[in-house]
Formats: sequence, structure tokens, C-alpha cells
Amino acid sequence: SKKNIEKLNQKIEEAHLGGGEKRIAKQHEKKKLTARERIAYLLDEGSFEEIGILVTHRTTDFGMEDQKFYGDGVITGYGTIDGRLVYIFAQDFTVFGGALSETHAEKICKVMDLAVKVGVPMIGLNDSGGARIQEGVKSLGGYADIFHRNVKASGVIPQISAIMGPCAGGAVYSPAMTDFTIMVEDTSYMFVTGPNVVKTVTNENVSSEELGGASTHSTKSGVTHLTATNDISCLEDIKKLISYMPQNNTENPAKLAFESQDEIREKLEQIIPDSSNKPYDMHLVIDGIIDKDSFFEIHKNYADNIIVGFARLGGRSVGIVANQPMSLAGVLDVDSSKKAARFTRFCDCFNIPLLVLVDVPGFLPGTDQEWNGIILNGAKLLYALSEATVPKVTVITRKAYGGAYDVMNSKHIGADMNFAWPSAEIAVMGAKGASEIIFRKEIKEANDPEKKLAEKEAEYSEKFANPFEAAQRGFIDEVIMPKHTRRKLLKAFSMLENKTVLRPDRKHGNIPL
Ligand code: COA
Repeated sequence: SKKNIEKLNQKIEEAHLGGGEKRIAKQHEKKKLTARERIAYLLDEGSFEEIGILVTHRTTDFGMEDQKFYGDGVITGYGTIDGRLVYIFAQDFTVFGGALSETHAEKICKVMDLAVKVGVPMIGLNDSGGARIQEGVKSLGGYADIFHRNVKASGVIPQISAIMGPCAGGAVYSPAMTDFTIMVEDTSYMFVTGPNVVKTVTNENVSSEELGGASTHSTKSGVTHLTATNDISCLEDIKKLISYMPQNNTENPAKLAFESQDEIREKLEQIIPDSSNKPYDMHLVIDGIIDKDSFFEIHKNYADNIIVGFARLGGRSVGIVANQPMSLAGVLDVDSSKKAARFTRFCDCFNIPLLVLVDVPGFLPGTDQEWNGIILNGAKLLYALSEATVPKVTVITRKAYGGAYDVMNSKHIGADMNFAWPSAEIAVMGAKGASEIIFRKEIKEANDPEKKLAEKEAEYSEKFANPFEAAQRGFIDEVIMPKHTRRKLLKAFSMLENKTVLRPDRKHGNIPL
């Protein structure tokens, strides 16, 4: 058995070399880390335990029996991030371009199954030329085995996908079904069909980067939630992301140590401009409320008329959904509704309380929006916020107009605490538009229609451009001074900590898709 020990050591050594030094050098030339280097950087030092290091493929076609590499193009196992257990797979581009074979897929499925059984996050580092071409349908089966597990694990354990190289064809559907996707700028791309096929079918000339690079998917399609400038910052983002989440859907996110001090934030008094049509940056409100430097924005460059991200309030992880008056006056449109709905559902899956900051003039009008289904897409956000059972708290900073008032976590759809600043305007629409409709006749018949409109506008404003009517009805629980917002929220989320909602059994709801 001394012989076997020697053999074992030799095999392990070989496995650690992946596709060999030449291919490793090529990987480095492309400014990419190898799969092993990535795992080593992501996980706590010395915590990685590999599973299936000696697995090889079973294909004999196309001379493949002579080309075997230990691990078969993917490194799988478990380890810890800041002491928390996670499961991981990292595709090794130096072995058959990280292409997915039957055995490669089996290795991924094995760790996914363990992650679900143990109840810990699953992290996938993707870097692959797609289906192992020599294996044909076997590798397609392998993909589907992974997809099916992604779906079964959805809402049970957090699933994070990093795209750190090519990810094309069917391969894209695993990341698409996980909770978060992070793409590395310049070295990664994702598309269902590549530039050559696109050229043949649609006669479009487009580069890989333009078709499916990080910048495309972070701005145009919203396929990626985050982008990172290089491998290292991508791995740092994964660590940060994980820190806001619990291990699984039966646990709460970790609460960091926090000591309440003087929680009055005077800066919040200076943000709302005098004119209600003037924009301001909702990030100032967010920063004014949360624990210092704790905001981690998701989908930053996509549909920026709404802001979503994680933050901490008194050490507690919260998900923030906030209209952004700096972009399109903060209206809800197709993309922003989808973005916010998806984020809301993630938070609800994993017991992360929701804070909704409202300054919304309504839905974006136009044929483009209607024809692209603003009705169904707006309904996604309405549905998501309405069905969420985590603690839900709303602060209306300024406008809350029309149907958008209802959608943005109103009392009526189940928000637990609804606050408004004195600058809040809770109304069916803006005073000018409202006056033009309901006083049309009077204005038309007046000697000076302009003057009459201004008069009526003032009258309407006086009645509705404030939070008081809503507060009288109890739609708003309290009108608060901006500077007290943080203190109120700390108390509200603490009070709601043990919120439980029992719902009748059903298979699942039918969210408008
Ligand atoms: N199946 C089997 N082997 C593959 C593969 C696949 N899908 N994709 C890449 N490889 C192999 C290559 O043969 C090459 O092997 P070698 O190191 O022995 O020479 C190695 O992986 C690296 O590929 P290479 O083409 O040199 O890398 P690149 O960075 O120049 O290009 C891709 C990367 C992904 C663009 C390119 O490899 C490609 O187009 N692959 C095929 C993609 C595809 O059509 N997949 C199947 C459908 S999903």
C-alpha cells in the first residue's frame, strides 16, 4: 500500500495542476485567476475541503479516453466565509475550457444536494465553454440536472453565481435561476447564442462584449445584479453579499453588535427641496438612516429610477426599496418594477425585513410602457410587496401618487408601520393635473383661466398635498420629523422582530409573470 500512497500523492499533485502549466499561464494572461486560486481567495484560509478530486470523465468518443484530467474541469467542496459554512463549485477553464460533461455535472449536483440537506448557501464560480461537445446529449442532461436542483433549492438556501469567463448557451440558465449573478468586467460574457449565430440569423454584427458583457447585462438587460472590475473584487462582493443573508430560509440573518446612541440625524432635515418638482438624491436619505457605510446596492446601473440594496439598521440586515427622484422623477416603469419585485421576493424568502422609501409620482405613461406590459410588470411589485410576510416598514418622504401609492408598501397591502415626513403628498395625482380635470369647466369659463387654474391648484394642494388626510384615516401611523426617522425605524424593526404571519396552505401563488 506504500505504492498506493505514492499513487495518491501523484494523483493529487496532478489534479492540482488542472489542465497543465501552459493553460494556467494562459488563464493568467487573460487576467483571470484559476479555479483553485479563486476558491482559496474566497474561503477562509485552510477551510476548503474538496469533494471528488479524483473524478474523471467516462467518454470514449473522439479519442477522449486518452485525455483525462482529475476533477474533470470543476472543483467542488465546502468551506467557510467569515466562519460560515458554504458549498462551492468552481469551473476550471484549463480543463476542456471548463466545459460541462456528465461527470462534471454530477460533481456539481452532489454539492448542491449537500448544500440543501445541510441548509447552507451554494456558490457557483462559472468559467466554461459550455456543453462538453464530445459528450453531446449527456452534457445536456447534466445541465438540466443542475437547473432542476437550482429550482428546488430556490427560496430554501441562498444561491450565488459569479460569471468569471464565458457562460454561453444552456449554461446561462443556471445563473439565471440563482438569487444573484455577479459578472467580471471585460473577462466574462453571457449569451444564449453567440455573435456568429447572431450574424447568421439576424445579420447583426456584434461583439461578445456588446452582446453579453458585464456592462450590457448590468445596464440593458438586468441579467447581472453586480459587476466587478476583476476576479478579486468579484470574490469580495460575494463575501459581502453573503454577510447580509442567513444560511437558509429557516434562519434569520446574523445581527451585528450594536449599541444605540443618540440616533437623531439632523442632516435628513436638509434633503427635501422647497419645490416639489425638484429632484434630490434618495441615496442621501438612505445614508442618513442606515448604519454607517452599510449600504450594498444591487442592480445599481439598471432601472436607476428605483434603488434596491441591503443595509444594516442597528446591526440588523434590511432590504431597502426606494424610489429615486433623480432618475425619471422616480416613476415606476416596467424595468424598475421588475427589479424591485425580484429584490423584494429575495428578502422575503430569507427573512430579511423590508424598508420602503417612497417618492413616486406614479407610473410612466406611454405606448412603450403599455405595450411592454406595465400593467403586468407593475403588478409584480404590487404582488411581491403584498405577499411578503417579513417585517415591512414604509417612509413616504414626498410624493405618493395614485396607484403607485398603493403599490409602494402601503398600509393596505400589509405594511406593518407606515411613516410620512411632513413634506409627504399623498394624493391621486399632482395638484395641477388634478385641478385640470375636476375643475375643467370652471377654468374654461373663467375670465382668466390661468389664474383660476392656479387658484384651484392651490385649493387642491391645500387639501391633499400633505400627509394629514392619510394620517387621519390611519393609513399613515405617524407623521415624523425627518431627523427622527432612524430612531423610529430602529424601534419599529425591533418591535417587529417576532412578527409571524400564518397563511392558508396552497401550492404557490400565481404571481403575474
Ligand atoms: N467542449 C469541449 N472542449 C471545449 C469546449 C467545449 N464546449 N469549449 C472549449 N473547449 C476546449 C478547447 O478545445 C480548448 O482545448 P485545449 O486547451 O485542449 O486546446 C480549451 O477548451 C480552451 O478553449 P479555447 O477555444 O482555446 O479558449 P478561448 O478562450 O479562445 O475561447 C470559447 C473560449 C468558449 C469562446 C471557445 O472555446 C468556444 O467557442 N467554445 C465552444 C462553445 C460552444 O459552442 N459550446 C457548446 C454549446 S453550449
